[in-house]
Amino acid sequence: MDRPIGMFDSGFGGLTVARAVIDLLPNEHLVYIGDTGRYPYGPRPQTEVREFAHQLAWSLVNDFDVKAIVVACNTASAAALHELEHEMPVPVFDVVAPGARALVSATHSGRIGVIGTVGTISSGAYEREVEALDVEVTLTAAACPGFVEFVERGQTSGDDVTILAERLLAPVKQANVDALLLGCTHYPYLARVIHEVMGPEVTLVSSADETAFVVRDRLGAAGLLRDIASAALEPAQHRFLSSGDISWFADLGGRLLGPELRDAAQWHHDT
Ligand code: DGL
Repeated sequence: MDRPIGMFDSGFGGLTVARAVIDLLPNEHLVYIGDTGRYPYGPRPQTEVREFAHQLAWSLVNDFDVKAIVVACNTASAAALHELEHEMPVPVFDVVAPGARALVSATHSGRIGVIGTVGTISSGAYEREVEALDVEVTLTAAACPGFVEFVERGQTSGDDVTILAERLLAPVKQANVDALLLGCTHYPYLARVIHEVMGPEVTLVSSADETAFVVRDRLGAAGLLRDIASAALEPAQHRFLSSGDISWFADLGGRLLGPELRDAAQWHHDT
């Protein structure tokens, strides 16, 4: 089916998931909206994040005729996934369940950690998801307010980031975890600093690849992937939109994801 896959996040974070989906499904059209005009979602009340998630999801369906929606944001998944799954006329994918699965399969000691925004961690979404997997593990969760803001400013290394990381990662370090899930799609951009603070023996897990596999498998099983013949006639198009400053979105997004971001366009939540 030639319709695009839709994806959204509060800003640049979901580009880590977009990268994985583009790499795994190079024939698929993609529409990505980064709500950079209203980031960060992490400190906002769940009701507000839910409202934003509905606006973005409905815009992807109504304005871009997507065949599926990937909620490439843990905070929005934690706040709105269940409603979106019921409400949307297309399949909805999240990053929380694939991330939790990848996390439990990465541990040897059974001591696992997850870091995310205040909204994600306080929702308890990861505790529920890990419990549902019914494995013998101890999960330590820590919120990392400020990480998203560093990424959105394009500052992914340096003393300021390291000092904040040392403070915020202390609970998961003390818990002696051997696998740590980056439970916010912005955090892979800080992976170098997080790795240095956590030490080489801790495996960092990102939900992006696992999410892309789920998208491929479910859309494939439903017969919703593009067929090779039409992909050969019309190469995949990747469209990127932002509710914030477009030149910044194109510039930083281009550095984070690649040149596809050059033609980024404006997204208005009332359109
Ligand atoms: N990328 C979003 C997530 O995965 C970040 C949310 C924010 O804007 O604080 O939770």
